[in-house]
Amino acid sequence: MSTQDWTTDRIRERVQALGPWFHNMDLRGVQTAPQHFLGDYPTVKWRRFQDSLPADLSGKTVLDIGCNAGFYAMEMKRRGAARVLGLDYDEDYLAQARFAAEVQGLDIEFRQMSVYDVGQLGERFDVVFFIGVLYHLRHPLLALDLIREHVAGGLLVFQSLQRGSNKVLPLAEDYEFWETAVFDDPGYPKLHFIERSYSHDNTNWWAPNAACSAAMLRAAGFGIESNPEDEVFICRTAPLPDARYGAVYPAKNAAPQRGRAKEGRP
Ligand SMILES: C[S@@+](CC[C@H](N)C(=O)[O-])C[C@H]1O[C@@H](n2cnc3c(N)ncnc32)[C@H](O)[C@@H]1O
Repeated sequence: MSTQDWTTDRIRERVQALGPWFHNMDLRGVQTAPQHFLGDYPTVKWRRFQDSLPADLSGKTVLDIGCNAGFYAMEMKRRGAARVLGLDYDEDYLAQARFAAEVQGLDIEFRQMSVYDVGQLGERFDVVFFIGVLYHLRHPLLALDLIREHVAGGLLVFQSLQRGSNKVLPLAEDYEFWETAVFDDPGYPKLHFIERSYSHDNTNWWAPNAACSAAMLRAAGFGIESNPEDEVFICRTAPLPDARYGAVYPAKNAAPQRGRAKEGRP
């Protein structure tokens, strides 16, 4: 169907059939999730960091991991990106994304894939979105490592739900075994484990504090360029921290460097 064939009534009917929606979008006058518990979401979030990304993405490639109904993929296409690929493991959300893109006449590819399988893409992207997904994963650092190893080719736009303090404690390179107080500092990186459910959602597994989001990004080989709002980090691929590289990719390196146990210390 061409964009013009989508009358308001037809759009409303289809929006209803494809629901419930997590992304509230305005599809030619029809709102997809007007009752969203976070308000006009993700527009309210996007407004807080949209100016941190290049306004013109002509010729650039964009990957949106965990794209849901495609809000960010569509914003990137509107900025002129040559190729935009949205991934999600949930077919219901992908059906919403394909429909929303069609109604708006945006040429975007959407594919069912888990973040753990990004190595299969065999392609790097100028901009990678990894927004609102980390805390849904059982293995969050593995996902960041895989993104860094296989698909990140420039910018990473990262966001996670965060809980705990927003304080970021400057960290020493190392701490003595007997140093324990530092772990209780609210600014020390902490990843809160959710054993059962959080916010009535049992797909929530982890809630990092701000220091932990930043530390995990650095540990996975991303340099943080800016932090335009509390939960959002604009990063660029950076060299992996040396001492950890062997531990992350043992096949490509000599034995990992490990701290040597000292006498009198367990
Ligand atoms: C909270 S929504 C975030 C959607 C969008 N990125 C945003 O920020 O508005 C989380 C999305 O991640 C997807 N997701 C969760 N685990 C995933 C995985 N392992 N691989 C790919 N997508 C995943 C969910 O299906 C859902 O669409």
